[in-house]
Amino acid sequence: MGYTESVRVNRESLQENAISAVPVQSTRALMFDAAPVIPDYLRDTYHWCYLNPRNVKLLDREWVVKTILWQQHHRLARAATAEIEPGQHVLQTACVYGDFSVALAEHIGPEGKLEVFDVAEVQVRNCRRKLAAYEHAVVRHQDVISLRDETFDVVCCYFLMHEMPDDYRRGVAAALLSCVQPGGKVVFVDYHKPHWAHPLKLITSLVFDTLEPFAKGLWREEIAGFAGNNDRFEWRKETYFGGLFQKVVATRKE
Ligand SMILES: C[S@@+](CC[C@H](N)C(=O)[O-])C[C@H]1O[C@@H](n2cnc3c(N)ncnc32)[C@H](O)[C@@H]1O
Repeated sequence: MGYTESVRVNRESLQENAISAVPVQSTRALMFDAAPVIPDYLRDTYHWCYLNPRNVKLLDREWVVKTILWQQHHRLARAATAEIEPGQHVLQTACVYGDFSVALAEHIGPEGKLEVFDVAEVQVRNCRRKLAAYEHAVVRHQDVISLRDETFDVVCCYFLMHEMPDDYRRGVAAALLSCVQPGGKVVFVDYHKPHWAHPLKLITSLVFDTLEPFAKGLWREEIAGFAGNNDRFEWRKETYFGGLFQKVVATRKE
């Protein structure tokens, strides 16, 4: 698959609620074959950590992710993986620093298929390098909001939702739900509003206010709410580490 793979979307199939969340320049990219446009939130807020090639090299380490997630990364990654069976066709919605994608590829095994998406070229290149040994894993240069007409057994959305503004988050949630058949699942692992007395609430709040301006959207509203409480799905939620993190699983009803 080419490194500058284009976004291919069937215009007719674009759902209203998803397309309305896409900024104008991304809409243009969706309508014609083109490399995906970097969304504003990524360019303006996260350029330093996800788009700067020198920092990508520096930050792509397991200990960095563990530190950011208060040593809960392995527990949360295990919680996500527990929703996936070997041999399944799995979508990972964005690259993640550390060994998460490699662990997923190992878990799924050669009978299955892992497709990792990312909107940033530098991330795509980096992830392809990490997954080079796994023939059943591919990395695609695409914005997940443009996903249509594709089907996966499980969609795994690991710490992506908190990075987006509310309208984009709604569009992505709708796009992900549209990618699973009856019996299939969308698994979200992300931040969650902790109890008011949680010892890490204040520091997390300060970090969000400084570095992650959209993350508190997940404190204000449930992930199921962002997905429009879609009743074609059964929703289940578990929280971790005193409520600072959550796993939300949407299983499409038969
Ligand atoms: C999954 S999130 C963060 C995960 C976690 N905090 C970590 O340590 O890596 C970061 C990735 O999401 C990608 N990304 C952001 N918005 C995206 C979108 N709409 N579609 C696909 N990838 C996206 C970024 O390019 C970046 O590589």
